[in-house]
Amino acid sequence: MKHVYVSEIAQYVGQEVVLKGWLYNKRSSGKIMFPQIRDGSGIIQGVVLKTQVPERVWDELEHLPQESSLIVRGTVREEKRAPGGYEIEIHDAEIVSIAEPYPLGKKDHGIEFLLDHRHLWLRSRRPHAVLKIRHEVIRAIRDFLDSNGFVLCDAPIFTPAACEGTTTLFEVNYFEDQKAYLTQSGQLYNEAACMAFGKVYCFGPTFRAERSKTRRHLTEFWMVEPEVAYATLEDVMELAEQLVTFVIERVLERRRAELQVLERDVSRLENIRPPFPRLRYDEAVERLREGGFEFSWGDDFGAPHETYLSEQFEKPVMIHRYPAAVKAFYMEPDPERPELALCVDVLAPEGYGEIIGGGQRIASLELLKQRIREHNLPEEAFDWYLDLRRYGSVPHAGFGLGIERTVAWICGLEHVREAIPFPRMLYRIKP
Ligand code: 4AD
Ligand code: MG
Repeated sequence: MKHVYVSEIAQYVGQEVVLKGWLYNKRSSGKIMFPQIRDGSGIIQGVVLKTQVPERVWDELEHLPQESSLIVRGTVREEKRAPGGYEIEIHDAEIVSIAEPYPLGKKDHGIEFLLDHRHLWLRSRRPHAVLKIRHEVIRAIRDFLDSNGFVLCDAPIFTPAACEGTTTLFEVNYFEDQKAYLTQSGQLYNEAACMAFGKVYCFGPTFRAERSKTRRHLTEFWMVEPEVAYATLEDVMELAEQLVTFVIERVLERRRAELQVLERDVSRLENIRPPFPRLRYDEAVERLREGGFEFSWGDDFGAPHETYLSEQFEKPVMIHRYPAAVKAFYMEPDPERPELALCVDVLAPEGYGEIIGGGQRIASLELLKQRIREHNLPEEAFDWYLDLRRYGSVPHAGFGLGIERTVAWICGLEHVREAIPFPRMLYRIKP
């Protein structure tokens, strides 16, 4: 007998198959029972007729608690009224393991309770939909970069120094008397890699000891970072626009059902096509003031500012040329106005805020040394990085796209914690 998955059930109409899964739900009316079975790929309604199965099977199924594991054999039927359009008429069932009373019933649980049970919550419809979309987003990103000549060149997790400011570093003991830090971004290594391979990306977990308890912050999150030699700020803004568009199109093409489970208004995503609006920092400040914010030029945007700005547009908005003083040490100054950095933040619409940060990197050895000093960074930890300016320095640029923030936006989630299988936050490292 063939073991099939719910996701491929349409190919087996009229055939006898085996499904291996868990009991998701059940209703019964004396002579007929409708167990819902999930197998990871989907959920299907089973039909059990008391007169058509051995007594043992009926009794076992009737008393089977939710999330018990079971293997069933039965005939696949098309059934318009069944959720999903198919059902399986069960002829036989083997119970693999009888579950204890399942803590996640149908009641409305609070978010903390659900997060405490994240290891079980993953089985429910909503997390399932979100995480399948997450997978699609990641796959789309890889497909896009892989088919556009980018070489995957991953960066290390243990690093000797900060990339994005010393205040959010996680320090770890690295043997004897050495200290290491968990990476905040693979960018510096990407810069080395792009001088070797031209167009590269790294894709992995990154860490920030952020004390912020906002809906946009995790302490461990995933970032994809493309970096291109001989590229300018304008080049990577275009790249970001293309990448985001590709990802949205792919999710709309392949994950409609999941977006529907999440009740996502897909019309908001269907609008996402190039060109994305481009706004100078200066113009963004003006807009904030027009919107009633008291904002002084030179400050960085906080969450309320980003929310306000991103609500102004139907598409992601690219804000570029921030004051260099509020940005990282490696940013190339704008030759026309050196107090500005050639950088860009992409803010997702509907108030989701920054999903991408990037820009052009300093090419000059002297200026880079000066910035490392100004930022009080340990010069000896950056000697290798400075070498990139000693041996064939060229203009180069790149960016980092945060996976969870992007998934939160696409799925319409209130908080990034749902956009990763096991979120790590200020007050949560379990399960
Ligand atoms: O803007 P950030 O800090 O940029 C960098 O790290 C650059 N070195 C990347 C590069 O140019 N290669 O972070 C990039 C993105 C943000 O736009 C955001 O989407 C995400 O990473 N991000 C976070 N996501 C979740 N939780 C946090 N604490 C995040 N911090 C940044
Ligand atoms: Mg940023």
